Amino acid sequence: MHETVGLSFTDSKKPLISSRLAARVQRLGLEDFNDYVALLRSSDDGGELQVAVDLLTTNETYFFREPQHYDFLESELTGKTRGSLSVWSAACSFGDEAYSVAMLLCDMQRAGRIGDEWTILATDISDRVLQSASQAIYPQERLRNVTADRLKRYCLRGDGESDGLAQIQPKLRERVRFGWLNLCRPIESLGSFDVIFLRNVLIYFDAPTKRAVVDRVLTELKPGGLFFIGTAEGRVACRTPLKSLIPGAFRKLPE
Ligand SMILES: C[S@@+](CC[C@H](N)C(=O)[O-])C[C@H]1O[C@@H](n2cnc3c(N)ncnc32)[C@H](O)[C@@H]1O
Repeated sequence: MHETVGLSFTDSKKPLISSRLAARVQRLGLEDFNDYVALLRSSDDGGELQVAVDLLTTNETYFFREPQHYDFLESELTGKTRGSLSVWSAACSFGDEAYSVAMLLCDMQRAGRIGDEWTILATDISDRVLQSASQAIYPQERLRNVTADRLKRYCLRGDGESDGLAQIQPKLRERVRFGWLNLCRPIESLGSFDVIFLRNVLIYFDAPTKRAVVDRVLTELKPGGLFFIGTAEGRVACRTPLKSLIPGAFRKLPE
């Protein structure tokens, strides 16, 4: 798992790992974990690697998580009415982060505080979350940080069988492009971004992997661009020069 997707676990996590994988091993009718490892290593694993990543990581996310980052982004972007603006939500999980940024940018555009040429790319390693993200249907609980105004403007409330669910409106969905990407592999040029969110994924990586992932991701950020990590993720050690702005937010300096 470390070689392929960068996941790194200390020995103390052994009970957690075995409890998360045991049911899967049983369900597949395998003898033991060695057979499971052999299956993961075989080229014909039928997507089992994806299943294992999903079992071993958490996809926890919600709209406007760490709201201070959105407030900060808003103040940094205000007045950028000329030129295009591109945002990348790396490790986007179910898309909550990407659609939160889309709501913010859409509102800013309506108010004439940014131009209309903005795009959002959202990527993850899990096909399962990406599929769900493009359908954009969420339990209302995950939208708890979305203001009533925005709920009205950007979400369709479900009723009957869909009671308790909400779907993001097509006009917002069409602003976000989803794609599969493994942060632990070389990145085919994605273009250069003004803003990158890489939040709450570095926790799965050991120190050398973290550094490599951050530097790799930062090659896709324009000098002067904004870079966000989760506020609980500590300091980022990387070669790329960064200026610290607020907890979890950085500006890329020219090299
Ligand atoms: C906790 S979620 C973070 C979601 C969102 N960024 C947030 O902060 O709310 C972590 C995501 O990282 C993804 N992930 C784990 N390893 C990855 C890798 N090597 N490349 C890309 N995504 C990865 C998982 O599939 C999961 O969806």
